[in-house]
Amino acid sequence: MAFKDITKHFPKEISLLKKPRPYVNHSIEFKHPYSAKERIDVLEKGGLNVFNFPSEMITGVDFLSDSGTTTMTNKQWAALHMGDESYGSNRGFFELMKQIKDTFGNKFFNDPSKSNPNAFIFHQGRSCENALFSQIGKLGKGLIIPNNGHFDTTEANILANNIEAPNLFSEDLKNIKSKSHFKGNMNIKKFSEMLKKNHKNIPIAYLTITNNTGGGQPVSMKNIKETSKLAHKYKIPLFLDACRFGENAWFIKKYEAEYKNKSVKEIVREIFSYADGFTISFKKDGLVNMGGGIFVKNDGLFAKKYPQMLDNLINAQILTEGHPTYGGMSGRDIMALVEGLKTITNIDYLDYRINQVKEFAEALLKKGIPIMTPAGGHAVYLDVNKFFAGTNMKPDEFGGIALTALLLGIYGHRACELGYFAFGHYDKNKKKEVQPEVNFVRFAIPRLRYEKQDLESVADALKELYDNRKHIPGIKVVYGRDLVLRHFKAKFKFKT
Ligand code: F0G
Repeated sequence: MAFKDITKHFPKEISLLKKPRPYVNHSIEFKHPYSAKERIDVLEKGGLNVFNFPSEMITGVDFLSDSGTTTMTNKQWAALHMGDESYGSNRGFFELMKQIKDTFGNKFFNDPSKSNPNAFIFHQGRSCENALFSQIGKLGKGLIIPNNGHFDTTEANILANNIEAPNLFSEDLKNIKSKSHFKGNMNIKKFSEMLKKNHKNIPIAYLTITNNTGGGQPVSMKNIKETSKLAHKYKIPLFLDACRFGENAWFIKKYEAEYKNKSVKEIVREIFSYADGFTISFKKDGLVNMGGGIFVKNDGLFAKKYPQMLDNLINAQILTEGHPTYGGMSGRDIMALVEGLKTITNIDYLDYRINQVKEFAEALLKKGIPIMTPAGGHAVYLDVNKFFAGTNMKPDEFGGIALTALLLGIYGHRACELGYFAFGHYDKNKKKEVQPEVNFVRFAIPRLRYEKQDLESVADALKELYDNRKHIPGIKVVYGRDLVLRHFKAKFKFKT
């Protein structure tokens, strides 16, 4: 009997069944089974600050960041061996030039032997931001760089150069009832009004894909196009903060009808066709543990408007990072990055990745745990205020900090408060805490690192904490309440 005569009796193709993971384990690490008692002891000695907690002792999932925490593929590990650590024009530089052009478009990496450099390699995202904004800051006073949601280091680097950094979040982001798939969008109405009033003071506009500060929510192609068109109307270059460009492209393919049949690669190319340049931390969708860059479109508005800045960027790179052909990266890391960029546009990888985040979100929702919906591309955000609604937890008792301490101590999972403590501050004059708009605990999921069972175990732990939330005491800050970036340094105690 022919195979096809048998298969007709099994009508559900594999695509309709639950798919297996699109990869197999290549190398694994066994964890020492630390007990809750051992963890709690260390956590208490470290002032309940999860950043101080040794990651070796995390027996569950480490959600602290999706940045630099990816598991590399076997091809990436092999690529490390191909690393060339020459001081000038190492092999990786030429490979990277080819790959950047292939992924983002031909105009983002000039061959420096033929024309002026427009691509600058740095060791991570924030060093790119520092270099770029310290150049832009020299253009004059009263400058403004608007964004759909500045990441905290982006904002800090802009402010450090005396430039304003407003966040023009979309209305959908704040509307909990909104089912929009693109809550990360730039608020076009506000952007348009700002341009009308202040366009002379705006050296560049910025768009973060996906919008990490705005819940890891994606930005639609329509919004990218509109933002670019509006900025260009006033001859203002558009830059992307492109850390999670692959994940953003996946959402466009999935939820913007006209992109359904386009490949992720085609979508990525189109996204970048609307930008005049981008900064990127490769620690996210570069699928590597270290790396970043500034890439300027060779015939874009930025290159035309600020040609001297390209020279200055090279100087900044040489002064602070390294020779322009390796920047702040080692040759072997560049080779692993080239491989990572090949993997990131693979639809099987992205389907798996984003569905994993979605399934985790759904598992929490099923247990009644309040989170931001729909889930974004790289993280699930727990709504602290809703979690503690109906209990005695007060805003200045930092329920999010209490929750992360208990989740780590008792259950061995590390998440991070991004809410009233991380983004709030203490007003010394008024002697009270000033709260930001949002109060989240973020569960950022490292790429290719955890399996379904791990995330289900977190959902169970959170359910237990949720069911017993009225027994969770508030937090007293015993050190660092007044410090800048206080969440990295502060120490806490549970109130009695
Ligand atoms: N831009 C965005 C949108 C980011 O999410 C990050 C880092 C950076 C820039 C800075 O890049 O870390 O390489 O210097 N985000 C990490 C996070 C730290 O956990 O969200 P970096």
